[in-house]
Amino acid sequence: MKNYLEMSKHERRKALEEQQKLYEQQKAAGLNLDMSRGKPDATQLNLSMDMLQQNPYDLIYTRKGTDVRNYGELAGVDEAKELFAELLGLKMENIIMGGQSSLALMYDTVIKAFVLGVYGGSKPWGQQGKVKFLCPVPGYDRHFLITQEFGIEMISIPMKKKGPDMDLVRQYVESDPLVKGIWCVPKYSNPTGITFSNDTVEAFAALKPAADDFRIFWDNAYFVHGFRDKDDQLMNIFEACEKYGSEDMVYEFMSTSKVTFSGAGVAVLAASKHNIDFLTRQMSIQTLGYDKINQLRHVKYFKNVAGLKKHMQKQANYLRPKFDVVLAGLERGLKGTGIGKWSNPNGGYFISYDGLPGTAKRCIDLCAMAGVKMTPAGATFPYGIDPEDKNIRIAPSFPSTPELYQSMNIFCICQKIAALEKLLEEKDNE
Ligand SMILES: Cc1ncc(COP(=O)(O)O)c(C=O)c1O
Repeated sequence: MKNYLEMSKHERRKALEEQQKLYEQQKAAGLNLDMSRGKPDATQLNLSMDMLQQNPYDLIYTRKGTDVRNYGELAGVDEAKELFAELLGLKMENIIMGGQSSLALMYDTVIKAFVLGVYGGSKPWGQQGKVKFLCPVPGYDRHFLITQEFGIEMISIPMKKKGPDMDLVRQYVESDPLVKGIWCVPKYSNPTGITFSNDTVEAFAALKPAADDFRIFWDNAYFVHGFRDKDDQLMNIFEACEKYGSEDMVYEFMSTSKVTFSGAGVAVLAASKHNIDFLTRQMSIQTLGYDKINQLRHVKYFKNVAGLKKHMQKQANYLRPKFDVVLAGLERGLKGTGIGKWSNPNGGYFISYDGLPGTAKRCIDLCAMAGVKMTPAGATFPYGIDPEDKNIRIAPSFPSTPELYQSMNIFCICQKIAALEKLLEEKDNE
């Protein structure tokens, strides 16, 4: 395919006309496809249905005899804490089991820090003026919405190949006591698919924050979500922190939303013993405990970490072809045009696409008019504003394979139209 950047004005006009014709044909097909959210489809959810087939009478007592139908075991049942501790390379005492959503745990942790403060902090965040969070970009829209909700100022940090720009992170964290946190998705990051390198994890552990109440929000949502033969390796941040005595700086989160059921999994908060004790006390005012039947159901279904990983192989085998269809569609439609770059992750739920600056909104609007719903342009940046208007998050998990094929054809046409319009506009302005 000819490189659009090297075309003459005449060639671009001609190419635009061709793409517009193709677009009208696709539009006439009246599609209704959703590529906006990284959620499993029904077939993928069916992979975990056996979990619900267990005899409910086997799900009543924990190994120490607690009746999980009743109140008690505020921070979760031991066997669940043990399973997730082993998965994350931690001890059981470092784990709190939450409800079905890790995002809810993150929201809770932010609001508690804001109103009540954190372990070791002198005052709640909310009593210290305009506090700030660092936001690696592109990143997860719902993280940014939490900090936006509380009026926390968000500072974008560019994502590099091995994780966030750590020089910039260090500069902010070590000089400004109003910087209270950073959002991180350290493995198969949403949306870039990047896994933080050992150096990056070490650099996080070595931070010396100016604030006494700074926290790293380590959202390990895709920790066991590799779908290729090669699984990225993420260093255990708590082990790295041990060297620097900085364990209290980290809150780690994960859930089984993309392991079993997105609407009915179990969520985990992992932290230092100091933080766990502090948060458990706060939690004791909030609730008498989360759903322990579901915790036990998950543990009895997986049996152990090996069982959970084996289960994830089924998920991987189901998801991989969907990613392959999207990647092949991008190659087929855009290779050689010079108008876009995209990630090719080993795991996670997203492909991150960067088009020419000033084209993302237009492309997504065109997709919507042709019946393909994408994540809104800008969503991967704080305040929903991508300063370059170029990043698009592609979520291959929900549509069927034939739908993905069609969606990618339309996406590539829309990309080409948006890019050609932009290039012609620039040429006109010259
Ligand atoms: C990075 C990240 N964290 C958290 C979540 C949501 O997790 P949960 O369902 O446990 O709230 C998602 C969902 O897409 C995600 O991408």
